[in-house]
Amino acid sequence: MKNYDIALVGFGNVNRTLAQIIGEDQERMAAELGFTLRVTGVIDLRLGAVIAPTGVDLSALLELEPGSTFAGLEGFRELSNEEFIRTVPADIVAEATYTNPADGEPAVSHVRWALESGKSVCTTNKGPVAFAAEELTRLAGERGVHFEFEGAVMSGTPVIRLAAGPLKGVGITGFSGILNGTSNYILGRMEAGLSQMAAIEEAQDYGYAEADPTADIGGSDVRLKVMVLAHELLGVRLASSDVATEGITGITAEMIEQARAESKRWKLIGTARRDTDGVVTASVGPRLLDDDHPLSGIRAATNAVTFHTRYLGDVTIAGPGAGRVETAYALLSDLIAIDAAERR
Ligand SMILES: NC(=O)c1ccc[n+]([C@@H]2O[C@H](COP(=O)([O-])OP(=O)(O)OC[C@H]3O[C@@H](n4cnc5c(N)ncnc54)[C@H](OP(=O)(O)O)[C@@H]3O)[C@@H](O)[C@H]2O)c1
Repeated sequence: MKNYDIALVGFGNVNRTLAQIIGEDQERMAAELGFTLRVTGVIDLRLGAVIAPTGVDLSALLELEPGSTFAGLEGFRELSNEEFIRTVPADIVAEATYTNPADGEPAVSHVRWALESGKSVCTTNKGPVAFAAEELTRLAGERGVHFEFEGAVMSGTPVIRLAAGPLKGVGITGFSGILNGTSNYILGRMEAGLSQMAAIEEAQDYGYAEADPTADIGGSDVRLKVMVLAHELLGVRLASSDVATEGITGITAEMIEQARAESKRWKLIGTARRDTDGVVTASVGPRLLDDDHPLSGIRAATNAVTFHTRYLGDVTIAGPGAGRVETAYALLSDLIAIDAAERR
């Protein structure tokens, strides 16, 4: 049975859940997927690093008391991220550190170091994909390894792979999407009569919104996803400044009420389209959609993307855009893709 050794960079919600899945679901994976996974190293900003070439004791890591670190665990090492990533005995690095919306660092470097040292990479981090997908994909090709990032947009809902696989050749001319569950949830709650502030507080209580919701409601999270999709679906590299961005903070209760009276809904839409001259125009902003628009019915924290295509017209996929299990599944789907590529 084929085995892949995995190193986890960042040990927060997503990589912790991947570790749990690897620890608990090994038998099913072996039977269904035809390979096994073994975690041989983990590094995290606060927790430190462990390396164990025969497999890290995952239960010891997952059962750590709050506030404690990896110090004292078997295999504990004091290493910089670069030393860890370059030397850890692993076939694949799963990068799930924080997303830096300014330039993608240090995650871009994490991915580069892994690929340079002959390891494939899967990541849920939008940063390296939005800012350096071209360079990193080329580097992976040069080193004969793989760079996969399904979770960068809509967590485990297969948007990037759908476009690259089943929809290949359909002629994607653009896309429009609800790409931020928090802002969609807030708009929905405003339709139910809440003020924007009350809806934000409720989203925070349910864990949809961060303590600082600026990236979600100000549009910058969607802007990064539009940059990722523009590259993957339309083959263009956009800078942040190429994507005119507006959030939902200007949407008032009166605007919501007026829209409902006209059988319309406000949605935060990220979009990019190629015009007949080949120029791609991208934007993020609140749009007023008719009730029969395919994105109008997307409720609560669900995400959706409509691909505008030459041969099929509009094709829409909806599903979760966040969540620790949903996003850890994105990494698993990347690992499955890497295995499939290895077997070709
Ligand atoms: N959770 C989701 O629903 C979701 C969905 C789609 C995409 N993503 C993306 O997936 C990534 C991980 O998300 P998450 O929810 O797991 O975040 P998280 O819970 O904040 O975990 C990130 C972990 O990485 C650590 N870290 C930060 N900088 C680091 C560095 N330079 N070196 C080593 N470790 C570092 C953090 O340590 P500290 O806590 O000490 O800073 C934390 O333990 C993010 O980029 C996120 O945007 C998440």
